[in-house]
Amino acid sequence: MVKKDFVDIGDSSLIYLEEARGQAGRAQRPAKAAAASPEAPPQEAKAPDFRLIGKAAPRIDGHEVVTGRAKYTQDVKLRGMLIGKILRSPHAAAEVVSVDLGPALAVPGVLSALKLAEDKVRYAGQQVAAVAAVDERTAEKALGLIKVEYKPLPYVVDWEKARDSSAPQVRDGKPNVEQLNQYGRGDIEKGFAEADAVIEKTYRTGFEVHNPTETHGSVAAWEGDHLVVYDSTQNVHGVRDGLARALRIPAANVTVIKNYMGGGFGSKLGVNEHTIAAAALARDAGHPVKVLLSRRDNAVCVGYRPSSFQTYKIGAKKDGTLTALELTNLASGGIVAGDRTSEPAVDLYKCPNCKVVEQTVFTNTGGSRAMRAPGHTQGAFGLESVMEELAAALDMDPLELRRKNYSAKNRGDTGLPYSTKGLDKCYDAGAKAIGWERRNRRPGEGGGTGPLRRGLGVASSIWYGAGVPGTLADIVLYPDMSVEVVCGTQDLGTGTRTHMALVTAETLGLEPREITIKIGNSDYPWAPQSGGSVTTPSVAPAVRDAALKAVERLKQVAAARLKVEAADIVMAGRTFSSKSDPAKAATFADVYRDLRRETVFHGERAGLPGDRYAFNTFGAHFAEVEVNVETGRIRVVKYAAAQDSGQIVNTLTAESQVVGGITQGLGAGLFEERVMDDATGNPVNPNLRDYKIPTSLDIPEITIDFVPVFDLASNSLGVKGLGEPSRVPSSAAIANAVYNAIGVHVREIPMTPKRVLEALKRKEAGS
Ligand code: MOS
Repeated sequence: MVKKDFVDIGDSSLIYLEEARGQAGRAQRPAKAAAASPEAPPQEAKAPDFRLIGKAAPRIDGHEVVTGRAKYTQDVKLRGMLIGKILRSPHAAAEVVSVDLGPALAVPGVLSALKLAEDKVRYAGQQVAAVAAVDERTAEKALGLIKVEYKPLPYVVDWEKARDSSAPQVRDGKPNVEQLNQYGRGDIEKGFAEADAVIEKTYRTGFEVHNPTETHGSVAAWEGDHLVVYDSTQNVHGVRDGLARALRIPAANVTVIKNYMGGGFGSKLGVNEHTIAAAALARDAGHPVKVLLSRRDNAVCVGYRPSSFQTYKIGAKKDGTLTALELTNLASGGIVAGDRTSEPAVDLYKCPNCKVVEQTVFTNTGGSRAMRAPGHTQGAFGLESVMEELAAALDMDPLELRRKNYSAKNRGDTGLPYSTKGLDKCYDAGAKAIGWERRNRRPGEGGGTGPLRRGLGVASSIWYGAGVPGTLADIVLYPDMSVEVVCGTQDLGTGTRTHMALVTAETLGLEPREITIKIGNSDYPWAPQSGGSVTTPSVAPAVRDAALKAVERLKQVAAARLKVEAADIVMAGRTFSSKSDPAKAATFADVYRDLRRETVFHGERAGLPGDRYAFNTFGAHFAEVEVNVETGRIRVVKYAAAQDSGQIVNTLTAESQVVGGITQGLGAGLFEERVMDDATGNPVNPNLRDYKIPTSLDIPEITIDFVPVFDLASNSLGVKGLGEPSRVPSSAAIANAVYNAIGVHVREIPMTPKRVLEALKRKEAGS
């Protein structure tokens, strides 16, 4: 029987941010001393002349994926495997008076039925009971026979209503509104007094569902007292630890495997309740059990991006110098806390006087989870929108306003200098690619043919992404010249295997296809969750470290064979030779054979003096849109993204990440919104028919620039994260382009036709 607890996503979000921040996160404690340090950021180094790194390489596992041979969790079939199904509460709040499993257990072919809810359910979609049966039909039938007596309780699913003191209490004995964050630097009143222009605007972002192509799923199998779980997860080690805690068994007795995955976007970072249920069913039934979530489940119980309601008050001098920036935010994340959205406001610009107050509002809705740059994505929409409106108020080029104010230091509470900052290079590259000079000089002044208006917009981003110190990777060299890399990281679909093969091949003088990659298993050396854009900057330096050690050993072996000093050996053209006597040479095959047995090299992503610098990634996105002022429809016609993510390992997969980030931002900006029904406490669009995501027809022409920044302070390869940075500014860039086109800011995403038409009415009314 599973002890029913909320899986505390609030906590896992904190872990998520800690990992995302990596060294910068660790640096936040010795902040005071660091702030006083006079040390200048390190000079940018010149990137080494890599043969493979930084070029476009096809995926080494592309064939597996496109031919359907790649095994996703959904494909896992084990001998004697049962199908598990979960009964979920239809009520947004109820006492669970009784659960009668008897009729379900009486169905032939049902091997286990478990009660999962203890006393109360607090959102529609929460687990109540589960069955495991020989096939899906039998499981479905049995599920329908479970008799649950509920005593429905008052609930609230609308966060604006939940703020009311008379609203039903979501958590026992705790108010629905809670402080989330408070921050201040300088003197905010003095800052506004010094300003020549002050504007105050409110921006709203909605509930965006992750909708990974592959829904969540787990297969649990017991081998004696050892639990093996195939899970669609971003975090094999974390799920192992979570399962061990939930089931009260040693972590050493749990193995979590994830070979291939169809995306996660933050919704698959921790151990899921259905995974614990699968393990419990499997133990009870004595058979492996597979539990797959439906698309509907995906919308009700495994997270979404929390909403935000951000009011910015911003003051500036005539020349654009910011003097004061104040943000109040109300976030809502259902039964867990929502996201802080203030980090862009605190970090991106060097405004000396800054004040932030954020609150979260609880509702009887499934818990939100980290979603691709949690908080930053919402915050970038708010901050970059108000910057655009401020530029108009000052009659300034919005790009100039940003250039004038962007900061070279990190958060006001640490004052750490950035190790490097390529944001200015991003502004240059993106502006050139989009043709920034074509923008309307003042918002809405472009005219256009018939009802169509065109405009251009820009938005910037800051995110973490230097990776996590302590990440491990092993390289195994075999005498037959095969090479294996083993690391407990995972590929979400972004191309992890390929970047590992590239770094190994680069260092060993081989080709990527000669490298065998083993990942996605919690028995392999430790690597962090694939969240926070930490995978490449954590794993690539660890692989590089192991590969450099392997080269060192190979040189020693070659030296012994050639009877010269190891320092005299050079490696080139698949040969080891003597520098002083080039006639002395040995082929790779000879030297590997001399190893005589497989030989393991342990690599680690080292920690660097992280307490002196902030390691971040930056980007600037530029959008061109066409708005139909009669229908309110928006079409994105052209898009330019420029990213500073340090040294790119594989430009082909990196470009895919950026296209994905833009596409998700376009979806959230124009269509995507989960809508809750007050009358039933359930979502009205928990599917991909009524919840609109972008298709290929919505994607504009996109140009991508990776600006040349090589930051050796971040890690040994100068590699930084990219997945989230490419998502952060995209909705904001599109919103600002709409503003430039029609002369009124649509201050709420998604910018549906209705909201665009309402904004146009607001413009006519002159407000
Ligand atoms: Mo994340 S929100 O898993 O990159």
